[in-house]
Amino acid sequence: MTKNYPTVSEDYKKAVEKCKRKLRGFIAEKNCAPLMLRIAWHSAGTYDVKTKTGGPFGTMRLAAEQAHSANNGLDIAVRLLEPFKEQFPTISYADLYQLAGVVGVEVTGGPDIPFHPGRDDKAEPPQEGRLPDAKQGNDHLRQVFGAQMGLSDKDIVALSGGHTLGRCHKERSGFEGPWTRNPLIFDNSYFTYVSLVSLPDMFGSS
Ligand code: HEM
Repeated sequence: MTKNYPTVSEDYKKAVEKCKRKLRGFIAEKNCAPLMLRIAWHSAGTYDVKTKTGGPFGTMRLAAEQAHSANNGLDIAVRLLEPFKEQFPTISYADLYQLAGVVGVEVTGGPDIPFHPGRDDKAEPPQEGRLPDAKQGNDHLRQVFGAQMGLSDKDIVALSGGHTLGRCHKERSGFEGPWTRNPLIFDNSYFTYVSLVSLPDMFGSS
């Protein structure tokens, strides 16, 4: 399938490269890669394939979207990224939030994700309720990822591996703790940690 990416000016590309370099140092120093991946995902994960609404268009900058209950804590990510927007005003919020996610994966040892700039900032946030709810089951995940976003079961599994980074915070989601032994390293342990380490505990054997 041919993909058509937006065209941006050479100056815009240069600003993105410069911003990316600065983000690398900042995200590594602040250990905030998980939060950066989460803001990128929560920006993109509201996309509705049928109405072509929602998606990564910078609306997380708006207090109304930060107030969606699924986004608890993402006001911190918005605040951390604001100085980059001030330093690189030509870069849209939409591109900045995705770029931060890309850099978060990179600096924690994950793959280099090709970054395609050119997203515009929209003025209105998407409606609340489009992101997955951790308290619901498979049917709900298929509704959100499949029917709404147009993705497959395979995509659900692969994308959930993003939880190799970071942790739950009781005051944000009601859950507590990391999914993996080292939540600041991007590896495959989200898929292997339970089976290799926790299963004996779960089944009570030594
Ligand atoms: C499959 C559906 C998903 C559900 C139900 C879900 C749910 C959650 C929950 C409950 C948290 C804890 C938030 C907190 O308390 O701070 C969380 C954190 C996180 N999620 Fe997801 N998530 C999903 C998919 C994804 C995807 C697709 C990605 C990225 C590819 C992702 C990346 C993250 C990251 C990096 C964190 C850690 C944030 C931090 O440490 O501050 N999640 N997710």
